[in-house]
Amino acid sequence: AIENNFTTPKLHKKILITAGGTKEAIDPVRYIGNRSSGKMGFAMAKVARDLGAEVTLITTVATDIPGIKIIQVQTAAEMMTQLQQLFPTTDVLIMAAAVADFKPLNVADQKIKKTDDEDTLTIKLTKNPDILKTVAATKTTQFVVGFAAETQNLLMNAEKKLNSKHADVILANNVAEAGAGFNVDTNQITLLQKNQQPETWPLMSKTEVAKKFWEFYLDKI
Ligand code: CTP
Ligand code: CA
Repeated sequence: AIENNFTTPKLHKKILITAGGTKEAIDPVRYIGNRSSGKMGFAMAKVARDLGAEVTLITTVATDIPGIKIIQVQTAAEMMTQLQQLFPTTDVLIMAAAVADFKPLNVADQKIKKTDDEDTLTIKLTKNPDILKTVAATKTTQFVVGFAAETQNLLMNAEKKLNSKHADVILANNVAEAGAGFNVDTNQITLLQKNQQPETWPLMSKTEVAKKFWEFYLDKI
């Protein structure tokens, strides 16, 4: 055996992670998206891989990460289809994706044209399914982790998500704060679990958040 300084891998689990913002088509060339970079989910995936886990990453962001199975999707509907297939045989689900809450009700077959006589355009949206809530409702032994992106009343809103989404843990972040949440390399997390006091973690890199999360998980099992 080759001697090294790394910790012995010890996360012998099947992990499913979603990352990035969904893209909901308006017409053949346009979509509704959001500012999610996928970085939080990618960090979770890489740290889990380094700890010895079998990781599948369902993501809207084109990427190739050694040692991780990548499934690329665009829309919430595609993400949900993949998750429903893979969730039954997974040990842990981490729902880090920023799923669009709404999508265009109708997708135009052709590129939408502007005209000289209309100064506004109305696109009617319809609700996407809540993927986490739907998938986690079928859980048996899976450990389910959701995120909560909030700009106000963080604890109250995140607590509601913990209960309504059948999650074991919610990682809440104030996305209005500098350095936390969308499209940055750092995050500031409050971890919520049922019947336990919330744990507030300091601002740190997303890789450090991922390390801290997997340490927390390994302590629990
Ligand atoms: N989520 C999901 N499907 C959706 C919306 C959200 O699976 N249609 C997941 C996210 O991936 C995240 C968690 O639910 O893990 C919370 O997402 P968030 O946007 O914070 O909460 P919502 O339930 O969508 O409520 P709101 O945006 O109104 O605060
Ligand atoms: Ca939302």
